[in-house]
Amino acid sequence: MNVNEIRKDFPLFQKMINGKSIIYFDNACTTQKPKQVIDVIMEYYSEYTGCAGRSIHKLATKTTEKFEKAREKVAKFIKAKPEEIIWTRNTTEAINLISRSFKFEKGDKVLTTNLEHSSGIIPWLHLSKKGVIDLDFVFCNEEGIFDIEDFKEKIDKKTKLISIVFGSNVTGTKVDLKEIIKIAHDNDVLVLADGAQTVPRIPIDVKKLDVDFLAFSAHKMCGPTGIGCLYGKLELLKELSPFILGGETIKDTFLDKKSFEIEDVPHRFEAGIQNYAGVIGFGAAIDYLSSIGMKNIEKQERELAKVLMEGLLEIHNLELVGPKDWENRNALAAFNIRGMQPHEIAIFLDEKNICVRSGMHCTHAFHKYIGFDKGSVRASLYFYNTEEEVKIFIEELNNIAKTLGK
Ligand SMILES: Cc1ncc(COP(=O)(O)O)c(C=O)c1O
Repeated sequence: MNVNEIRKDFPLFQKMINGKSIIYFDNACTTQKPKQVIDVIMEYYSEYTGCAGRSIHKLATKTTEKFEKAREKVAKFIKAKPEEIIWTRNTTEAINLISRSFKFEKGDKVLTTNLEHSSGIIPWLHLSKKGVIDLDFVFCNEEGIFDIEDFKEKIDKKTKLISIVFGSNVTGTKVDLKEIIKIAHDNDVLVLADGAQTVPRIPIDVKKLDVDFLAFSAHKMCGPTGIGCLYGKLELLKELSPFILGGETIKDTFLDKKSFEIEDVPHRFEAGIQNYAGVIGFGAAIDYLSSIGMKNIEKQERELAKVLMEGLLEIHNLELVGPKDWENRNALAAFNIRGMQPHEIAIFLDEKNICVRSGMHCTHAFHKYIGFDKGSVRASLYFYNTEEEVKIFIEELNNIAKTLGK
């Protein structure tokens, strides 16, 4: 894989800002977009804007074809069937779709963890506050590693669902999802995995994983913002009760019976005019990643993780979040410099054209758990980043740490 060639696909990497190129290390937040994705979005708006699944004129027909083709692409990417893919705005909406559509009965328990992103925890806290579910947590250790036995202990007869982050956006660690799913299924419990940080960087086979539901976002994998999806096993999707209804979610309406006939899965979950440009752009992002190869993407990230971690560990006053060994994490590291505020560090790096994120990264519970009450700085890389960029970042961070840290 030739990273320098790949970078030519990304308009932002060709730009100079304040006379210098940008080092973009905020990929866990959102990724940059290649021209292959930008072009298809432009093409939809400039050449065939129409509504999918409704009108039958040529523009609408083309929109329908591209819209459903994108569903096939996303499905194939994770080894699912097209009808098992529901378009959502993002991972957050996909998790909310389950929390709002799952037929919970009084006393049903949902098990989640202290490492979740807000998207994976607030919907459950909300339901628990309303008395719809009982909520319980499995706690990881301070490095973000779980003891699999804790899942066994927390599951009881009332447990219906485990909602778990597959790859953490703060420790960079991944859970042993296959093992957790096995434990869950042995106890008739379903599993919803938050794949926001995992689907973009490793090959995924939902059938081999046997995961029941998987949520992810296009914008974290070179696709547009405002589009994501929920994968679900078809028979399970049929059991859900859609929480938004309207145009395209029904086959017929009966005022006399005060009822309606619901559409088939997945369309019954996609109410109203959809984000066609986003969906088509998502399809192009899938084509793009597939043309590079997910195995190559994973390999490049492993190499970047190694240089990143080795560099960070050389900084004497750096406090790292998560495990020290790069083998146990992806190319993502959250940290603090003793004596400095996270936002201060991010601002100094921004002055050097290095984009990182600072704050809680939507993981308030975990930050508090490890005593990082003010949050942390996070550098998160993707396959298009280079070792050279990592070296520049480490050098600039080291200068900041030496001059301003304690
Ligand atoms: C682990 C994880 N889950 C969920 C989300 C939410 O993703 P989105 O904002 O695309 O819904 C993020 C975003 O950073 C994330 O990192």
